[in-house]
Amino acid sequence: MRLKDKVAIITGAAQGIGAAIAEGYGREGAKVVIADIVDGQDAVAAVEKTGSEAIYVKVDVTSQEGCDAMAEAAVKQFGRLDILVNNAAMYGNIVKKPFMEITTEEWNKVMEVNTTGPFHCTKSVFPHMKEKGGRIINVGSSVLFEGPLGFPHYVASKGAVFSFTRTMARELGAHNINVNSLAPGYTQSEGSKKVENARTTKGPSSEELVLQKRCLKKSGLPEYMIGTAIFLASDDSEFITGQLVLCDGGASFH
Ligand SMILES: NC(=O)c1ccc[n+]([C@@H]2O[C@H](COP(=O)([O-])OP(=O)(O)OC[C@H]3O[C@@H](n4cnc5c(N)ncnc54)[C@H](O)[C@@H]3O)[C@@H](O)[C@H]2O)c1
Repeated sequence: MRLKDKVAIITGAAQGIGAAIAEGYGREGAKVVIADIVDGQDAVAAVEKTGSEAIYVKVDVTSQEGCDAMAEAAVKQFGRLDILVNNAAMYGNIVKKPFMEITTEEWNKVMEVNTTGPFHCTKSVFPHMKEKGGRIINVGSSVLFEGPLGFPHYVASKGAVFSFTRTMARELGAHNINVNSLAPGYTQSEGSKKVENARTTKGPSSEELVLQKRCLKKSGLPEYMIGTAIFLASDDSEFITGQLVLCDGGASFH
């Protein structure tokens, strides 16, 4: 077990990629905090099925106080904190549309969750990691390289997540905290299905477009992110920081 007795907070882990990573961490022996704005009891049950432990903490990552309480709850329950996966994002609720139709409020909300959220969570976990080290994994996206149409706020927010990863890797390296980004390509999650159903832009679906470009001719699944998320949280990646690992079946090369 590569994460035995480690304690991990995974934000946005009630469903989709976050829930898949939580289950994967459970199988590797980690105790997991399912931190989400919506109920995460199903994800807790899935981790418990692996034989490990999990708790659900309700949090809105746009609140610094909420994120502080989340980190405190993790330490109170499990006695330590080793891993943070900044996975929560405004994604499933986005309606793809031309940029002129996006309001400032919509822009700011996406930035607040996707970019300010990881900033808050990083501040909240730092006091618990600064003496003994830790791992921070920021879930980015291949969109930052590709710039697909319809959601420039989301694309820009993920660009910021990568830049944030770089600067935090520099600042936290002295504390033996590795900060990396896992960037999925188009993945069949609850969120992506919702985005696809709600879009008002015309043309081929995201799944059709990505399959044309992808080297591996199969659909992206949340479970394909698990191995990389374990690698970035484990001793196997001890000397890797400030990097982005693209998990997109070879849809894009950078
Ligand atoms: N699915 C894809 O195609 C895809 C591709 C690239 C990157 N990603 C990224 O992967 C991550 C997970 O994506 P997903 O497809 O599983 O998304 P999803 O929409 O299915 O899940 C996102 C989770 O984040 C939670 N969340 C949203 N706002 C929150 C807030 N303010 N506070 C706390 N939790 C909040 C939601 O409740 C939900 O459980 C996101 O960072 C997303 O940007 C997804």
